[in-house]
Amino acid sequence: MFNIILFGPPGSGKGTQSEKIVDQFGLVHLSTGNLLRQEITDKTPLGMEARNFMDKGQLVPDEVVIGMIDSCLEKHSAAKGFLFDGFPRTVAQAEALDKLLSLKKTAISKVLALEVTEEELVKRLLKRGETSGRSDDTNESIIRNRYAVYKKETEPVAQYYTQQGKMEVIKGEGSVDEIFDALSKSIETEMEEQQSLSAS
Ligand code: AP5
Ligand code: MG
Repeated sequence: MFNIILFGPPGSGKGTQSEKIVDQFGLVHLSTGNLLRQEITDKTPLGMEARNFMDKGQLVPDEVVIGMIDSCLEKHSAAKGFLFDGFPRTVAQAEALDKLLSLKKTAISKVLALEVTEEELVKRLLKRGETSGRSDDTNESIIRNRYAVYKKETEPVAQYYTQQGKMEVIKGEGSVDEIFDALSKSIETEMEEQQSLSAS
């Protein structure tokens, strides 16, 4: 299996780039944000609980999202690999993911981190908020809170993967296609390395 994480602050383009990457490389896209919004749409108890956190720009408790990822990995057990988008967002989630993957005799190959300035992120999300219907996009103070939560709780995840030698930073500003080219090159290189290792 080949598993990667697309990492980055709110609005950095994770969702936009994930769709293109899974098309190109045949991976299964796992976005915890999308899964949680689906639970809200379906009015499940999990969705009702998650909504209270999401509306304020806070993180949903670790055990809720880890449980969701666990069942998705089971559901797609024949997948060629996974692209994780918006997960893991805490060190506890990263540790849980490593455990779940090792049970399946696989691991994360690479973490690609999109780097975008705070002002550009706020501008993108306020613009999307005009049409998206996402409650966490409509108000600048909630967007700023999402960014503050990212700095405090999610940035340590970058150190976690740096220590594992898996982190690569990619410039997240410019055209969608330029950024996709940079991501694709890095993924191709990593795939080739993994293939030559398994062949040797
Ligand atoms: P989630 O859905 O993951 O949202 P997010 O990380 O806050 O980020 P977004 O999805 O808003 O941005 P993105 O990086 O995907 O960028 P996008 O491509 O959309 O999480 C939402 C909430 O769910 C969290 O706050 C939390 O409450 C909860 N949650 C989710 N996962 C969790 C977890 N693991 N643990 C705990 N809680 C969790 O692009 C953004 C905009 O920019 C779009 O309008 C796009 O068109 C535009 N854009 C994209 N690329 C470019 C470009 N190159 N130039 C200009 N504009 C661009
Ligand atoms: Mg997203």
